[in-house]
Amino acid sequence: MCRVAWKDCPAGAIEKCRLRLDRTEFAGTRYAMDTIMTAGPSAPGAAKAWTPQTWRERPILQVPVYPDPAALSEVEQRLHRYPPLVFAGEARRLKAQLAEAAQGRAFVLQGGDCAESFGDFTANIIRDTFRVLLQMAVVLTFGAGLPVVKVGRMAGQFAKPRSSDTETVNGETLPSYRGDIINGPAFTAEDRVPDPARMETAYFQSAGRMNLLRAFASGGYADLHEVHRWNLGFVERSPLASQYRDMASRIDETLRFMGACGLKDTAQVRETEFYTGHEALLLPYEEAFTRIDSTTGEYYGCSAHFIWIGERTRQPDGAHVEFMRGIHNPIGIKLGPNADPDEVVRLCELLNPRAEPGRITLISRMGADKVRDRLPPLLRAVKRSGVPVVWVCDPMHGNTISTTSKVKTRNFDSILGEVRGFFDAHAQEGTWAGGIHVEMTGRDVTECIGGAHRLTETDLGRAYETFCDPRLNAEQSLELAFLLASELKQRLHHVSKSIP
Ligand code: PEP
Ligand code: CO
Repeated sequence: MCRVAWKDCPAGAIEKCRLRLDRTEFAGTRYAMDTIMTAGPSAPGAAKAWTPQTWRERPILQVPVYPDPAALSEVEQRLHRYPPLVFAGEARRLKAQLAEAAQGRAFVLQGGDCAESFGDFTANIIRDTFRVLLQMAVVLTFGAGLPVVKVGRMAGQFAKPRSSDTETVNGETLPSYRGDIINGPAFTAEDRVPDPARMETAYFQSAGRMNLLRAFASGGYADLHEVHRWNLGFVERSPLASQYRDMASRIDETLRFMGACGLKDTAQVRETEFYTGHEALLLPYEEAFTRIDSTTGEYYGCSAHFIWIGERTRQPDGAHVEFMRGIHNPIGIKLGPNADPDEVVRLCELLNPRAEPGRITLISRMGADKVRDRLPPLLRAVKRSGVPVVWVCDPMHGNTISTTSKVKTRNFDSILGEVRGFFDAHAQEGTWAGGIHVEMTGRDVTECIGGAHRLTETDLGRAYETFCDPRLNAEQSLELAFLLASELKQRLHHVSKSIP
């Protein structure tokens, strides 16, 4: 928090304060204006005051130590001046749509790479992932008859938390790779040094990616009349091809029928709403894009519409939670199998004191073998607390295994097993299973085993391209969407039958 009196303020901090509002005086000492505003004049600098910098006073995990603090500070100052990547009004719109999912009237689809890579900065790669997300969303919307809120793990998913600070290969130990925004993936001492200049590259790449996604979403590519054409390439060779073609024909028929009735094509048919999200791990970067919204006077994280706190950094007294507390975006919290119900409630109350629906999405990632045991106590505790949340299932991170040759993979059956356990837990507790969060790509990779093509361990070598965790390929993603749609349809049928 900005407790620094102006006379003691180091140059960088003064610059940041000047960029925000104004300075003012309290009891003879001058404070940054927002400290006074948040804490109230009776308690300037009190524990509850929040500024985009207060995370710096809390214990922090998973952040890199930059060897050159002056270089870091220069980059931070430049980032503070760059235009935001999203506009607060868009984040509010997403929050309103997530509020629908919190109340059982929509389903959330989040998906994309585990780690985006600077090397994969091409239109085709971005388009292919976007296309599969669109296909999944259409399958879900058509199959379940529910609006689907689409959030890509895209245009900013560059920072990775790691279980170990170091990695050893053939007896040599180096710092772990932490995502392209921090260091490089090559196993060399040089690449593994955290370099602040990477934050700037991440920003410019995010801007380029975001620009293309916006163009695809509203420029005609996502038009529902094109559903057949999204189906190029991989699905044609897939056992799912006829299922997809059948659905696309039914959508065409419906659109022709609507046209014949004189119902005009609307933006809802011609365009789609697509949001971006990533893990808010690298706080100096996130802080730089925290801006005051001119409409409401509130702070928003403007690096993406939706940002989340990972399983490893959700300590209630830690820096990441402190940062998220003051921004008004919709936010996510990952919950692993050891999440404690009281702690989860504490996080919900801390991060959503006004119990605003759509503000918090809880993303559970328990593992197929644990979800039925570990999720229900959390569902009960959060329900009792009265804080509305969206419950989303990440069936990836609790189901990572290592093959005999030490390759990380995930079994499609375990992924499905966790999804089914998630739905069952919600049915049992009378809560709404509100969405899915997956690591996937539009490319024809071989990183997860199983699925319609029954990939095995021996297939993994063929196209294992991920920079971090194994992703579903395009076909496996679509298969998951079809299975989810039929699961959702059945559940909705039960829900409507149980309403008198
Ligand atoms: C991730 O989403 O890539 C991730 C690291 O997840 P978690 O924090 O749930 O482990
Ligand atoms: Co991952």
